[in-house]
Amino acid sequence: MNPLKIFENWYKEELFRTSVSIPSACCLSTIGLDRYPNARFVSLKAIDGESFIITGPTSSRKGMELDAIPKAALTFWWTETERQVRIQGDVQPLEVKIADLYFKERNLTAQLISNHFDQGEPFGNPTLHFEEFKKDMKERGAHEIERPANWGGYRINPVRIEFLKFDESRFHNRQLFVKTENDWHATFLQP
Ligand SMILES: Cc1cc2nc3c(=O)[nH]c(=O)nc-3n(C[C@H](O)[C@H](O)[C@H](O)COP(=O)(O)O)c2cc1C
Repeated sequence: MNPLKIFENWYKEELFRTSVSIPSACCLSTIGLDRYPNARFVSLKAIDGESFIITGPTSSRKGMELDAIPKAALTFWWTETERQVRIQGDVQPLEVKIADLYFKERNLTAQLISNHFDQGEPFGNPTLHFEEFKKDMKERGAHEIERPANWGGYRINPVRIEFLKFDESRFHNRQLFVKTENDWHATFLQP
C-alpha cells in the first residue's frame, strides 16, 4: 500500500476520535546552522500529491535553516489511536500563488501579526511594540492584508516514512517505507 494513503487513513481515524484543539500539530525538525538539531511544533496544512505542506514566516530561524539545508523531519504522535509517524524529506519552498492562498485563509489578526512582527527577532520593548501593533490594527480596519514577502511555506517531499502502532503486548508494529526511484519499498522493523 502507498504510505501516503496509510498516512491519510491514520490521520482521518485520529481526527475522528480526537478532541484536541490543534490536531494538525506535528514536530518539525531542521538541521541548525550550528548543526544542532532544532525542533518545534507546526501545523500540517495539507498533503498535496506526495508533499506535506507547512506554512509560516520564512525569515524565521526555521526558514533560514531550511534555506541552508533543505532537509527536514516531521513527527506526529496521535494519542487517541496511539500511533506515531516519522517523516524525513527534502524541502522545497511553496509556490508563491499557493502561499497567497494559505495567507488569505488566515484570520485578519493572524495576517496582521505576520505583517507586523518578525518571528523570532528579539523585542526591544514588548509593551511599546504591542501598542504600535494595536494602532496599526485600528488604522487598517478590516482591509485585506497582502501576504508579506517573508511569509510562505514549504513542501516536505518524503524519502522515508515510518509508521508505529502501539500494541498492548509491547510488540509494537513498525513499518518503514523508503522511496525508491519511482515507488516505495516497505519493510517491517523490530519493535
Ligand atoms: C501547536 C503549534 C502549532 C504551531 N504552528 C505553527 C505554524 O504552522 N507555523 C509557524 O511558523 N509556527 C507555528 N508554531 C510556532 C512554532 O512552534 C515556533 O515557535 C515558530 O515557528 C518559530 O520557530 P523558529 O524560530 O524555529 O522559526 C506552532 C506552535 C505550536 C505549539
